[in-house]
Amino acid sequence: MTNPSLLILPGDGIGPEVMAQVTRIIDWFGAKRGLKFDVTEDLVGGAAYDVHGVPLSDATMAKAQEVDAVLLGAVGGPKYDSLDFSVKPERGLLRLRKEMDLYANLRPAQCFDALADFSSLKRDVVAGLDIMIVRELTSGIYFGEPRGIFEEGNERVGINTQRYTESEIERVARSAFELARRRGNKVCSMEKANVMESGILWREVVQKVHDEEYADVELTHMYADAGGMQLCRWPKQFDVIVTDNLFGDLLSDVAAMLTGSLGMLPSASLGAPMANGRPKALYEPVHGSAPDIAGQGKANPIACILSFAMALRYSFDQGDEATRLEKAVEQVLADGVRTADLMQAEGDTPASTAEMGDAILAALDASL
Ligand code: IPM
Ligand code: MG
Repeated sequence: MTNPSLLILPGDGIGPEVMAQVTRIIDWFGAKRGLKFDVTEDLVGGAAYDVHGVPLSDATMAKAQEVDAVLLGAVGGPKYDSLDFSVKPERGLLRLRKEMDLYANLRPAQCFDALADFSSLKRDVVAGLDIMIVRELTSGIYFGEPRGIFEEGNERVGINTQRYTESEIERVARSAFELARRRGNKVCSMEKANVMESGILWREVVQKVHDEEYADVELTHMYADAGGMQLCRWPKQFDVIVTDNLFGDLLSDVAAMLTGSLGMLPSASLGAPMANGRPKALYEPVHGSAPDIAGQGKANPIACILSFAMALRYSFDQGDEATRLEKAVEQVLADGVRTADLMQAEGDTPASTAEMGDAILAALDASL
């Protein structure tokens, strides 16, 4: 039997540093748990632009379509700010999402007990928080046509289009309901049905999928602006939130901050099952390339490491090993190991990116 395949795309900024720690963890699972992967590495974002003049080459795109899972670090940076829109680093990531048809973006926001005091909200509001945002990722205003900047009379007009088909809403709604059944059995769907026709359709279709296929799951609807407010007021009321591409982008950043640091949050982007039954999948931290701290060994690798844990769970059916890795992270945090983003007192010496990796590897060893 051949090993499952992974394509690693470290990308830009802190991407390569945090991914280096993930590579050590992958090697650990190979050596200690007999979970071997065939790993190839390639370029995305600005790193790909520097070499190929595009943020994702056709060859890399083709590889991504063939492997069992893609792990991505981060893309973007000030060096690329003045590039033409069509070749900006972010376009590489958006091309991967679109061409792999990764329509369901799972963004868990979990507050580790050791970090409950890092949130800008009170401890009792966030302690024990465990919610899952399911963001539609391949449609909506990110991709709708017409789009562009056009001349109209004697001025320009910028246009983007929010567009959703019934089938696009149905499939992401199913992903949310399936997840809810394995968690707290509750889904809250968020849109702006009070002002947007696409929101009216969203609400109708989610309700229909619920009534016909998932009547056992509790479903509520909320306007997305109120949803943002409720996320800050009492986030523990939620289990699974399902929402569109743009609202999901915003709400997942809000949810991220509840957990203390953006440096903690992983994500999985899943598509339809491939011939081998595994979903098309890309795993990446929610944080960006953080150019201000890139190359200094300060970055927190946990979001990227937990993204690999999600890969173990959702692509490779290794839920127990995913839990082992998540527990190792939890242990290290409980032991007080902190990268700079998790420091409270001035003057404390933070752990470097590699030291955080060392600590998690030691906790994995201790788990055997
Ligand atoms: C995210 C990011 C991306 C998005 C950018 C980098 C294109 O903000 O994954 O949340 O807007 O989707
Ligand atoms: Mg975002």
